Amino acid sequence: MANVKKMKVGVLGLGYIGASHIDAIRRIPGCELYAVADSNYEYALSKAEQYGVEKCYRSLDELLEDRQIDVIHNCTPNHLHTEINTRIIQTGKHLFSEKPLARTYAEALELLETAGKHPETVCGVNFNYRMNPMVQEMKYRIKKGDLGDLLIVSGAYQQDWLLHDTDYNWRLEPEICGISCAVADIGSHWMDAVQHVTGSKIVEVMADLVTFMPYRKKPLKQAETFTNNAPAEYELRKIENEEYGAVMFRMDNGAHGIYHVSEMSAGHGCCFGIELNGTKSSMRWNQEENDRLWMGFRDGDNRYIIRNPNTMSDEVRRYTSLAMGHPEGWNDAFCGNIRAFYDYIRSDRSQPPVFATLDEAAYMVRLTEAVVKSSKERRWISV
Ligand SMILES: NC(=O)c1ccc[n+]([C@@H]2O[C@H](COP(=O)([O-])OP(=O)(O)OC[C@H]3O[C@@H](n4cnc5c(N)ncnc54)[C@H](O)[C@@H]3O)[C@@H](O)[C@H]2O)c1
Repeated sequence: MANVKKMKVGVLGLGYIGASHIDAIRRIPGCELYAVADSNYEYALSKAEQYGVEKCYRSLDELLEDRQIDVIHNCTPNHLHTEINTRIIQTGKHLFSEKPLARTYAEALELLETAGKHPETVCGVNFNYRMNPMVQEMKYRIKKGDLGDLLIVSGAYQQDWLLHDTDYNWRLEPEICGISCAVADIGSHWMDAVQHVTGSKIVEVMADLVTFMPYRKKPLKQAETFTNNAPAEYELRKIENEEYGAVMFRMDNGAHGIYHVSEMSAGHGCCFGIELNGTKSSMRWNQEENDRLWMGFRDGDNRYIIRNPNTMSDEVRRYTSLAMGHPEGWNDAFCGNIRAFYDYIRSDRSQPPVFATLDEAAYMVRLTEAVVKSSKERRWISV
C-alpha cells in the first residue's frame, strides 16, 4: 500500500483552545503534531514534553522558519489573528485559524486580499459548531425539503463565566478582543451555524447589547481563561464590551430570526441552541444534547432523531464515528471540523469546503460590526 506522507502540523498559542487543537490533531490520521509554540515558552515546553512533541518554539517566526511544517493552527487571542494569519499565508503554509477572523472588517478584508494572492494555500476558520453530526443532519434534511420554506429562526448561546465581578478575561478588552465580547465570541458561532445549515445569509440586524457590570476586578497576575478563581490582587477596570446581546435579524431567503447571547446566565457552560420553523416542520438542536435532533409537526407525531451512523445519509455519516448510544460530544465535533479541513487539503479541492472559509469568517466580522452599530444607533442596519 502506498505510504501517504503525514502532514506536519504546528500549533501556535497553547491556552484554553490550543489544548483542544492538540487533542484533535492527534486523533486525525495523516497528521503529525510536530511543533508547538507559545510566547510563554515554559508552558510550551511543558506541553511539548507532555505530548512528546518533536519541536517546541517561542514564536511564530520559529514556526515559519521550520520548512518541515505544512500547516499552522493559529490559537492566539483575537488582536494577533490578522498579522499572524497574513504571515502564515505569505509563507505558503496552510492555515487553520481560530475565530473571530479579525477584530474589524477592515482587517478581515486585508487578509482576504493576501489570501487571494496565494490560491494554493488552504485556509480554514474554526467555526466548529457547524460540524456537529446532528447539525449536518439538519442541513441535509433542509436541503432534502423536510422543513419546507424557512420562516423563523431562533435560539441562544448562553454561558456564565462572566457572572461575578471577579471574572475577567482579555475578551473584555476592546484593544485585544475587538469592539464586541459576547457577539464576537459566541454570537459569531451561532450566526455561522445558522447560515451554514440554512444556506442563507443574515442581511439585516437590530440589536440590544448590554454591559451589566461597568467595572470588573482585573487580576494583576494573568489568570487562565474560563477559570473562576477570584484574584487576591486586582485593579478596577472599566468595561465597555457587552456580556449580553439580543439580536433580531432578517435573512436573504425572506426568513426572520431572533437570538440572544449571554456570558452571565448562571448554570450554563455551553447552552447553544437553534430552532428552525418551516412551512412543513420544525427542527431544534442543542449542543448540550448533542446526539439528538428534535423534529416537530403540526399534523403528525413529533419525534427525536437520534444520531445513528447506520441510518444517516452518506452525506452526514462521514462526520460521525461512534455507534448509536455512544454519545459524541463537543470534542468530537471539534475534531470533525478540523478533520474536514485536512480532508479538503488532500482532496482535489473541486467541492466547496464544509468548514468555514476566510470569506465566510470575514462576513461574521462584518455582521458583528453591524450588530454593534445597530445597538449604538438603536436602529436596523443592512449588511
Ligand atoms: N472555536 C472555539 O470554540 C473557541 C473556544 C475558545 C477560544 N477560541 C478562540 O481561540 C483564541 C484563543 O482563545 P483562548 O481562550 O485559548 O485564549 P487563551 O488566553 O487561553 O490562550 C492564548 C494563548 O496564546 C498565547 N499567546 C499570546 N500571544 C502570543 C504570541 N504572540 N505568540 C504565541 N503565543 C501567544 C498565550 O500565551 C496563551 O497561551 C481566541 O481567538 C478565541 O476566540 C475559540
